[in-house]
Amino acid sequence: MEFLKKETERSKYCKKFGKYPYSLFDPLNYIMSGGGKRIRPILVLLSCETFGGDINNAIDAAIAVEILHNFTLVHDDIMDNANTRRGKETIHKKWDVNAAILVGDELIGLSYRSLLRSNSNNINGILKAFTDGVIEVCEGQALDKEFELSEAVSIDDYIIMIKKKTAELLKTSSIIGAIIGNAEQNGIEAISKYSENIGIAFQINDDLLDVIADEGEFGKKIGGDILEKKKTFLYLKALELLKGKEKEDFKLLYNNSHNNKEKIDMIINIYNTICVINSAKDEISKFTSKANESLNCLRNEDSRKHLLSFSDMLLNRNY
Ligand code: IPE
Ligand code: IPE
Ligand code: MG
Ligand code: MG
Ligand code: MG
Repeated sequence: MEFLKKETERSKYCKKFGKYPYSLFDPLNYIMSGGGKRIRPILVLLSCETFGGDINNAIDAAIAVEILHNFTLVHDDIMDNANTRRGKETIHKKWDVNAAILVGDELIGLSYRSLLRSNSNNINGILKAFTDGVIEVCEGQALDKEFELSEAVSIDDYIIMIKKKTAELLKTSSIIGAIIGNAEQNGIEAISKYSENIGIAFQINDDLLDVIADEGEFGKKIGGDILEKKKTFLYLKALELLKGKEKEDFKLLYNNSHNNKEKIDMIINIYNTICVINSAKDEISKFTSKANESLNCLRNEDSRKHLLSFSDMLLNRNY
């Protein structure tokens, strides 16, 4: 993480001499040192290794996708009115919305700066994959917000939305790792399919953890999606299963403006009673298996095993 260390030192230096915008650098360091699972950089490195590449050449790109991911989180928390992330106050709460907008913008710039340091003879391919990822996340986030206010969202629409807001960045990570590892086209296609499906499973799991996780471990507010009236997998599945008056009452409850703990408990209770918690678990397993099937064509058995344990780790996570 030499790059981040350098950036942090730059900000300390700037602060010391009182010349530079610590109103930007303080929250920037705060978010980048807040931890997280780092699954996207891991995927860059695993993907590079899968095709026989030297992972040292992929480290700058791995850092770039993690920085970009942190940008999406900072702006996502403004959009979702979230007060807690990784067990700490979100930037727009601790500082303000202006600081969080600017930190997000700076993170995009820093992510490109790190990406451009990549050691590869196909820097164009890397930049294209990365830029596609940025655009897809923004479009997915727009759909996520539009869906809050829409009554006509199907599970198919939901899958399109989560593919964009979440799966695409995992896909980007794996494609960039594969390019740096000098993968052939069929290898790139296999790892793209893998990461797209693992990304879909990952977001359904995130929706599930929003209602079943331990708040301390998850680091985000339980029921946050309910308070924001998000069209999550659980909500859409519940609409599919409930009929008549029960369905109407459920919709009224979910979309009312009583944003309190009682409402969250009532919704979670319904989710448990009609077994949508289990439906979500089945769906996560289904997309994980689909992802794993794409790995069958990989020749490097050790790498295939690493990716399979990565899938397992994501499937069984509690945060
Ligand atoms: C959170 O991503 C945003 C989603 C796409 C669900 P992560 O769950 O990977 O967040 P960190 O980086 O581990 O905190
Ligand atoms: C996250 O979706 C997608 C992006 C950050 C792009 P969520 O809004 O569900 O993520 P969390 O739950 O806040 O981490
Ligand atoms: Mg969101
Ligand atoms: Mg959110
Ligand atoms: Mg979420």
